Amino acid sequence: MPSLAAPLAAALSLASLALAAPLAALPPSPPPLPRGRAAFVTVNASANASLFYWFFPAQSGRADAPLILWLQGGPGASGLLGLFKEMGPLALDGAARAVPRRHTWNEAYGLLFVDSPVGTGYSFTASDGGYARSERDVARDLYTLLQSFLRTEPRLARAPLFVAGESYGGHFVPSLCAHILARRAAAAAAELPIRLAGLAIGDGLTDPPTQVLAKPAQAEAFGLVGPRGRVELQAMAENASSLARAGRFGEALAWREAMEEYVRAHSGATLYDVRRMGAYNFSDVEAWANDAANKAWLGVPPWVVHRTDAQVAAHLRDDTMKSYKHLFPALLDPAHGLRVLLYQGQFDWKDGTASNLAWISTIEWEGREEFAAAPRSIWRASDGEIGGYVQAARNLCEVVVAGAGHMTPMDQPLHALDMMRGFIEGSLCTSPADRA
Ligand SMILES: *[C@@H]1O[C@H](CO)[C@@H](O)[C@H](O)[C@H]1NC(C)=O
Ligand SMILES: *[C@@H]1O[C@H](CO)[C@@H](O)[C@H](O)[C@H]1NC(C)=O
Ligand SMILES: *[C@@H]1O[C@H](CO)[C@@H](O)[C@H](O)[C@H]1NC(C)=O
Ligand SMILES: *[C@@H]1O[C@H](CO)[C@@H](O)[C@H](O)[C@H]1NC(C)=O
Repeated sequence: MPSLAAPLAAALSLASLALAAPLAALPPSPPPLPRGRAAFVTVNASANASLFYWFFPAQSGRADAPLILWLQGGPGASGLLGLFKEMGPLALDGAARAVPRRHTWNEAYGLLFVDSPVGTGYSFTASDGGYARSERDVARDLYTLLQSFLRTEPRLARAPLFVAGESYGGHFVPSLCAHILARRAAAAAAELPIRLAGLAIGDGLTDPPTQVLAKPAQAEAFGLVGPRGRVELQAMAENASSLARAGRFGEALAWREAMEEYVRAHSGATLYDVRRMGAYNFSDVEAWANDAANKAWLGVPPWVVHRTDAQVAAHLRDDTMKSYKHLFPALLDPAHGLRVLLYQGQFDWKDGTASNLAWISTIEWEGREEFAAAPRSIWRASDGEIGGYVQAARNLCEVVVAGAGHMTPMDQPLHALDMMRGFIEGSLCTSPADRA
């Protein structure tokens, strides 16, 4: 053996010498992808129902970095959509491979993505009883998840928590925050106190009976329909609104869907971003999520299928047209010390600026007059460009993000990051009283 080994070693060292120059010229190998930590939390044992979460600690390494819980819309849209397409530390390349994202909220903040309600994405239930039928169910299950998560990350139980979300998140976010405040008041000894510091809703659906009425004029203003089309849309919107106010939520939703279909059919536009035609295509997210090697990397069992389960929305059909505006006076009450950010992408028709301002301006809270009188000012982002427009009073902040559609952070990644930083650090939203 030694007689063989010596020439082999010599040959190898020759080979490495010969290779030394070309090797040095190769680009350095890419840094490992942030993997974070993924887990399932059982929320109803008898239904075998579990919620999936994926957590990424703040890249800054700051031990006291605030934590953002992100709630995707739908209902039934996976948290992986926000992660990969909007603000997570990972994005997908053209071949549906995970790559690092350039501008991520994870730079400064811990990010907790969830597949909620039960049945969404990787989350599953073995029986019909596991599905959420109301926002109370959704909030209860998310609260169970938060308690379990904070027990495994005790350091984060002391970090300020911001609950953020998009679209149908306009239902989920205030409902969960109200639930957290209620549990705080109950001071249940067995539960970890949750340091809720604020909430943020992007392009939210919060007060549908009001919001639906603002959409026909907005469709005309965007040039998607003409004056005659607007009149037809208005009649449908009024049906949707009055049926919702009468508690006939299923019929109300059918009218709203008919109105949206009219605009889509007559314009061909992406209703979530009127600058685009056709529909978004996010099939790469599901392709990534169901790839066996990716599931193994993430620690998701092979039998879990990532999907858009139609049962999630079906069980919440009567919830869609319900209003959650009534939760805001308590959420804005200075006694709780919460900050509230409501932002919209300028080119969203689905749940855009006009439809949101219509309900925001009618919230019954102490700062109502002050908010109405507050000037709207230009907000400059960190690159010197106009990021959008801000209107704020006390702890309420309204932002229109320039050059963005419904999925604001996807369209304006740097500006959306600047906005969240400004909101959380307190520099973005200055009320007239602060400036005086
Ligand atoms: C829950 O359902 C999954 C999928 O059918 C199954 O593999 C798992 O063993 C079940 N867990 C329990 C605790 O029954
Ligand atoms: C849990 O699941 C069971 C069985 O499906 C169901 O009957 C029950 O209502 C569920 N519990 C809650 C709190 O939703
Ligand atoms: C509104 O609903 C009523 C009946 O519920 C129907 O007759 C009417 O045509 C609807 N409006 C529009 C614009 O379709
Ligand atoms: C969506 O994109 C994938 C590639 O990522 C493509 O295979 C698929 O056909 C597209 N779907 C639609 C409806 O365009």
